[in-house]
Amino acid sequence: MRYLLLTVFFLVSFVVIACGQIVFPSPNQVKIQKGNLNIGKNVSIYAEDTTTFYLSFFRTEVLRNIPVKWTKKASKAEIYWVTDSSLSSEAYKISINPRQMVIAASGKEGFTHAVQTLRQWVADSAGNLIFASVVISDSPRVPWRCFLLDSGRQYQKIATIKKYIDMASLLKMNYFHWHLTEGLGWRIEIKRYPRLAQIGGTVGKGEEQQGFYTQAEIREIVEYAAQRNITVVPEIDMPGHAEAALSAYPELSCFGLPVEVPEYGFTPNIFCAGKEEVLHFLKNVLDEVCTLFPSPYIHLGGDEAPKDNWNKCPDCQQRITAMNLKNSHDLQLWFSAQMAAYLKLKGRQAIFWGDVVYHDGYPLPDNTVIQWWNFRGHKDLALRNALRLRYPVICSSNYYTYLNFPLIPWKGYAKERTFDLKDVYYNNPSDKVIDEKNPLVLGMTCALWTDDGVTERMIDRRLFPRILALAEQMWHQGEVLDFTRFYQNILQREQWFGQMGFEFGPALKSGVKEDYKWD
Ligand code: ACM
Ligand code: ZN
Repeated sequence: MRYLLLTVFFLVSFVVIACGQIVFPSPNQVKIQKGNLNIGKNVSIYAEDTTTFYLSFFRTEVLRNIPVKWTKKASKAEIYWVTDSSLSSEAYKISINPRQMVIAASGKEGFTHAVQTLRQWVADSAGNLIFASVVISDSPRVPWRCFLLDSGRQYQKIATIKKYIDMASLLKMNYFHWHLTEGLGWRIEIKRYPRLAQIGGTVGKGEEQQGFYTQAEIREIVEYAAQRNITVVPEIDMPGHAEAALSAYPELSCFGLPVEVPEYGFTPNIFCAGKEEVLHFLKNVLDEVCTLFPSPYIHLGGDEAPKDNWNKCPDCQQRITAMNLKNSHDLQLWFSAQMAAYLKLKGRQAIFWGDVVYHDGYPLPDNTVIQWWNFRGHKDLALRNALRLRYPVICSSNYYTYLNFPLIPWKGYAKERTFDLKDVYYNNPSDKVIDEKNPLVLGMTCALWTDDGVTERMIDRRLFPRILALAEQMWHQGEVLDFTRFYQNILQREQWFGQMGFEFGPALKSGVKEDYKWD
């Protein structure tokens, strides 16, 4: 009986440890060794600086708040944090043997990634913290790894914003693209123009379409994200997707008329590019945006701006003539160039959606970055034009990085706008472009747009598990796991992600039951 119990104990520990060894995204080099490091109470830790956020994060998320003993002798410590300036800024190395764990990085970024790996590496068996012996050497495939959340069409609570920042950090992303303005909602408090948020934050009809983020809340989010190695990149979309702002200040449109707020899509009611007051207004907005967000990048939108009004507006037409521009698209380039140049004065880069490079024209300044998105409509046109013009590019092809596209048809999404885990794992155009290894390609952003009323409770099942494939493509630079193995790993980790608060939706189209409700 005793032997039977021992055998069962051994088998259980083995399964627990094996599960501990699955890490998302996969580290680049993992050399498993013999034995485990068992951590009990009063674990001894050596660190040069014991006050960093990543250390307290490690203590709560990995050590589960067990008492620790700080030691001044590195060689005696069970856990030894060492600064290694030979490692690149996001790289880290974890070496574990039955006596000691050594965690090396050159700074906060690498140490934070190491903690996120250790949260998944640790196995908990009968109340003990067990770490399989290993050497892990890891660093990212691309420098831009990002999650976009659309807080314009739907408002999410601060706790929800933090939840998805936690997720991005856990998946070793380093940017959070916060889509803060839309036709259906202006969500950022601007002190100089209070009606933007007060009126623009309530133009939608839905319960979760009401509200905005105060400047104090935004500072809290930026700080929360920075601690977790995430830079928050705000998007203030212009000149289109501006109906909420124009509801508050109709005089900023071409004709100053009352504004229709579209429940779906967008309208030709965009910021006027002919009126001097509009440029002045938007630059004042950017002043406050730049004060709130220390990010080197500010996103200025630029997508889906129909030119119907500009084509008829005397002010816009006068601007076209005065600036010797070709047409209304060229006017958008001129307008975008003014805004990007303003950001350049502040030492920031301006990101634009790929629409601005569909046609050549008025030159954008050299602090311009292009975010390629409309693969469905224009294949790689924006990508190739941007690279030809030597702008850095972020890849967000709507096939298959738009996680709001469902697995099965739902509301405005027909069958051709659906995808599953296998589609993104093998056929993501953004992943293939990263393979080209063009240094102008900065990396990838995956997006959760909230069109069609994607409320908070619907988000998780759209993200998981497909976002694990995207995180893998952003981070992992070793050999690509075969899909069956990757999917097995996901199944083994699903419960753990559930404990972390992330609910999984279906992974494969073939596994979706007929009565499955996507909302
Ligand atoms: C976009 O999806 N309109 C950027
Ligand atoms: Zn106009």
